[in-house]
Amino acid sequence: MRWFKLEGVSFTILSDVERDSVLKEWEALISSVRSGVVLARRRIGKFRYGNHDFLVSFADFYLGVINALKTTIPYFRAAETKPPSRPGVRGLAGIKTLYLSDGSYARVLIAYRYPSILPELFLYTLFGDVWEVALVFKTVPRSRALSLVESAIKRKSTIVGPVEVAHEIGALRELGERVLRGSDLVEFYLLVILKAPELRILNEIEERVRTLLKGFGIETDTPPIQRELYEFRLCGILACVEKTYTDTASLKPLFFLVDEEMHDDEGVFLGFSGSGTPVMLDLWSKPNLNFVILGVTGSGKSMSVKLYLKRLKERAEKITYVGVDPESEYTRVAKHIKATPIEISENQELGLDPIRLLQSGYLDMSQVSDILSEIYAVPKKLQGVLRKELFVKGDVVSSIEEFVTTLRDPVLMKLLEGAVAPPDIHVFRGTPPKLSSNVVFGLSNLKSKRLKILTSALISTYAYNTLLTKTPGKSVFFVDEAWLFMETPSILGLFENLARRGRKHGVVFMYVTQRAEDLARSPQGRTILEQSATVLLMRQEPEGRDACKKIYKLSEAEADYLTQAPVGSGILKAGRKRITIQVVPTPEELEVFSTSAR
Ligand SMILES: Nc1ncnc2c1ncn2[C@@H]1O[C@H](COP(=O)(O)OP(=O)(O)O)[C@@H](O)[C@H]1O
Ligand SMILES: [Mg+2]
Repeated sequence: MRWFKLEGVSFTILSDVERDSVLKEWEALISSVRSGVVLARRRIGKFRYGNHDFLVSFADFYLGVINALKTTIPYFRAAETKPPSRPGVRGLAGIKTLYLSDGSYARVLIAYRYPSILPELFLYTLFGDVWEVALVFKTVPRSRALSLVESAIKRKSTIVGPVEVAHEIGALRELGERVLRGSDLVEFYLLVILKAPELRILNEIEERVRTLLKGFGIETDTPPIQRELYEFRLCGILACVEKTYTDTASLKPLFFLVDEEMHDDEGVFLGFSGSGTPVMLDLWSKPNLNFVILGVTGSGKSMSVKLYLKRLKERAEKITYVGVDPESEYTRVAKHIKATPIEISENQELGLDPIRLLQSGYLDMSQVSDILSEIYAVPKKLQGVLRKELFVKGDVVSSIEEFVTTLRDPVLMKLLEGAVAPPDIHVFRGTPPKLSSNVVFGLSNLKSKRLKILTSALISTYAYNTLLTKTPGKSVFFVDEAWLFMETPSILGLFENLARRGRKHGVVFMYVTQRAEDLARSPQGRTILEQSATVLLMRQEPEGRDACKKIYKLSEAEADYLTQAPVGSGILKAGRKRITIQVVPTPEELEVFSTSAR
């Protein structure tokens, strides 16, 4: 037998169309391999974060191919591998129990009766209890297929009485018709292998698993050929087990290559996936460095960012980051995320003069002109005048004050008066703050929204250019409460520009806001949405459901899930993977990072 490792799919949250295509792939795998075994195995491990041990399990998937002529298997990213290492059989510990070389006990259940309808993915629900699930299959040559079905019907017909048998005969007849119409006939065996350190536990697991399977209408048996079953040596011994036939299409409900894992090598622990494995996220391993977090107020967005930053710093102390924090909730916990908090007040001089930012090359002429136009409500017809003035004087005046006082158009000058009076003038005057390697700007003391927007934009530009692009290696720039900017497209454009430049400088851009539609409204926002390789979708408002569904091509079920998602949970999409996630703080982290407790 040749062995291949298969890659699982995060099936549970796929759209119906995507599910169909995965099931077609599964069908194609079985038809093309013809004879072999698909094996899923759970690996239990401990995951330690902080002082906490979490019990977790991982799934590995294998394909064993008998008489492999084909050199490649173009399904589920199959890659040839060594035979999966399993403990050998040391002996029998009873008629239906194996004693394995690692000191544990094992038992193989084989399914012998199936209902006419099985729910998709039912095997996945066993994963918590079973050690391995194996589907052993053999495609029957066309020439023999029909006579096999016929003799199976004959065999069944000798049993008189039970209604189920009559049903089974009916099902076999239908199968015969499908084979006549061209379906492949498959002889298959579903094995469920249980393993435990003690016999008592093994018996308990068996009880549970059999009950679960019975609930789906599947009857199982533990025939006294345990060793052969364990080693998948089914040829020749099949007299002991009843033969089961179906066609490849009907094997769809047996699909079990489900993997909700996101386990990046250099990842930061964020929480657990729907299948219970730790989610380790490395934003730098994705196709681009942009990360958008969307969810209603209280859904757990800021908690996720704080956990990410704290844990990132624990992993990689050298990482630099800059944050814009309109509600000053990060500055309050700055010491836990190893940041220098800079709390900005209305009368503080910040030295963020757009003319000087222009002269240092941090902003270009059209950015300055767009920002001034937006913040001071310069009408369309005067924007050209403003641009011209900037072009003429941009490199000769020394400050925005000088620029405004030398404007020739009286209307434009009147509009920009606000820029040379308090509180705005404080933003522009003075010298910019000294920036250390990790800094978060708290803006909650700025009362007006306009001032918050202006300050956020300029300080971001400044910090990005003086700190992040100057530090070699990885860094992070984050903006929380970013809905603030939804009505100022030029400032969104500024962020979009920083996001675009991020890759070159290794700067991860994290953008935290409430609704996808807010961003989707302007081209700049749409670019941020579409250009984010990583997205964390948390609880959505019922009204935002459809927009979100459309933007992220979610299935009905996913969209419904998002409108009801509990705090801290959601869908994490990264690269081509999508998983459900529960973001998990330790009790200590929850305590320090909670805003509601305050
Ligand atoms: N992953 C989580 N697990 C448990 N509780 C959480 C989690 N995330 C958030 N919370 C709780 O919910 C509150 C609001 O979360 P927060 O992250 O501030 O929401 P948002 O930023 O989306 O408005 C937090 O103060 C905390 O008490
Ligand atoms: Mg928040």
